[in-house]
Amino acid sequence: MAEINLHGRDFLKLLDFSSEEIEYLVDLAAELKQKKKDGVLTDIYKGKNIALIFEKTSTRTRCSFEVAAHDLGMGTTYLNPTDSQIGKKESIADTARVLASMYDGIEYRGFEQEIVETIAKYSKVPVWNGLTNEFHPTQMLADLLTIREHFGHLKGINLVYMGDARYNTGNSLMVVCAKMGMNFTACSNKKYFPSEDLINECVEIAKKTGSTLTFTEDVKEGTKGADVIYTDIWVSMGEPEEAWEERIADLEPYRVTKEVMDNAGSQAVFMHCLPSFHDLNTGIGRQIKEKYGLNEIEVTDEVFESPASIVFEEAENRMHTIKAVMYATL
Ligand code: CP
Ligand code: NVA
Repeated sequence: MAEINLHGRDFLKLLDFSSEEIEYLVDLAAELKQKKKDGVLTDIYKGKNIALIFEKTSTRTRCSFEVAAHDLGMGTTYLNPTDSQIGKKESIADTARVLASMYDGIEYRGFEQEIVETIAKYSKVPVWNGLTNEFHPTQMLADLLTIREHFGHLKGINLVYMGDARYNTGNSLMVVCAKMGMNFTACSNKKYFPSEDLINECVEIAKKTGSTLTFTEDVKEGTKGADVIYTDIWVSMGEPEEAWEERIADLEPYRVTKEVMDNAGSQAVFMHCLPSFHDLNTGIGRQIKEKYGLNEIEVTDEVFESPASIVFEEAENRMHTIKAVMYATL
């Protein structure tokens, strides 16, 4: 097999990467994680600087980029959702050219995938997608590392996504499962299945890797025997607040409950990219309680806090995998 070299590559979506390249990034993340635990320094990029553009808020992704950059010896500049000129007073193309002249890499979190693709087009340095409406590729590497740590392998794992499967996390999970020979099920109201175009693209990939892709509205059938039950919030960043009413009506049957986990089986784990509304300890959680009377939204507190829940291992792995992406592409 040819040696894998990702230097200079953008990291915009996993459709752009081969299964071997994705596996290489997960292996590299595992190696960097071990080094961090052993106190071995990995500051190979001293003197480099990266720009972090966040048009949407973040805890994990921002902190992961900042800590990982620091561990690699780099400086960071964080551009928050309100302070930069991007898109308002300066075009995406101009911003990209300015930042690429000062920085060695650019992270972008924001709205349409087209924006991050444009930044990459006009930038001579690597660009990394920190979440768009359509895709969340750095999250996927963390999820793969977490699943592999837990089960010891990826191929043949049955991953069931419940909830809004047509947004960044659901779309990306379908892609990554197809790429890595994992079986993907979207278990949801059919309004929330990924787009036909993306499904067709993934079906072609799955033919080569042996993955299966299933789309079902039946919770009992869809979650039976699952290894991973995965969900995400029902209304994503950037979507209107009014969307909640319809989402709750459509997606309540697809909340991850103890019954769902029991139906999956004793081997099953629960995953969530976070943040999550599993109790009343968030502002939005309390608003939803007041308006719709719900104590928990996409997952019950019982499942979230259960031994099957590996969400905090998953969150930690964001940092190690983002470090691997920067290590490999700079
Ligand atoms: N999972 C994730 O992307 O978290 P943040 O929104 O906190 O970055
Ligand atoms: N689907 C969520 C993911 C958050 C990490 C959102 O876009 O808000």
